[in-house]
Amino acid sequence: MQQGIFVILERLKHETHAAHMRLEASVDLPSRLRSPESYRDLLARFYGFYAPLEPRILARAEWAAHDFPIAPRAKVPALEHDLAALGYTPESLAALPRCTELPALTSFPAALGALYVLEGATLGGQVISRAVRGQLGYTPETGCAFFASYGRELGPMWQAFRAFLTNVELEQPASADAIVVGAHATFAAFGAWIASFEC
Ligand code: HEM
Repeated sequence: MQQGIFVILERLKHETHAAHMRLEASVDLPSRLRSPESYRDLLARFYGFYAPLEPRILARAEWAAHDFPIAPRAKVPALEHDLAALGYTPESLAALPRCTELPALTSFPAALGALYVLEGATLGGQVISRAVRGQLGYTPETGCAFFASYGRELGPMWQAFRAFLTNVELEQPASADAIVVGAHATFAAFGAWIASFEC
């Protein structure tokens, strides 16, 4: 049993490590936090990826068969809250470019791999939200709700997600490869989307 825990979580972490490093470099946090405008543009870029992708993960019918509350994992509302706090209107938000080269989530395990990427980003978000507060002064209320996702609940939320992935793998060992493939595809798509960011 313990081996299952080791396999999927370790595989995800180690096999996507290089992609994470590349993405972190593309995000280029120091330049993005140089001004309120460049921070707002970074959020707009995240929105352009999360807004089309997140519903494809959260709206999957398979969630009904799992005892895992998926609705509280939604982060698009926090992005919309931040962008509104930073001056976006519903019209300008709707006009933002959205990624069309999304990962092909052809199975539930592939969608779980994508969710792993979005959930893991909340760990980096904790680091980012501290930097945002320090350099630009934004709090979750005034423009940094997305990067501060889950707040004090971050640790328990991450652990619950890890436990869920482990259970899925224990119940369906064959799903592990598809989970990893989904995570790779999501890192690749997000990396390409962020790298094409020129505002
Ligand atoms: C400047 C940007 C970023 C920074 C500084 C950062 C930093 C971090 C940190 C500190 C962790 C925790 C590592 C640990 O405790 O072992 C982490 C984990 C993670 N991050 Fe990032 N991150 C950034 C961007 C992103 C983005 C944009 C994504 C995906 C959209 C992402 C996905 C992940 C994932 C999936 C993990 C979990 C790794 C695991 O399995 O333990 N990160 N990141």
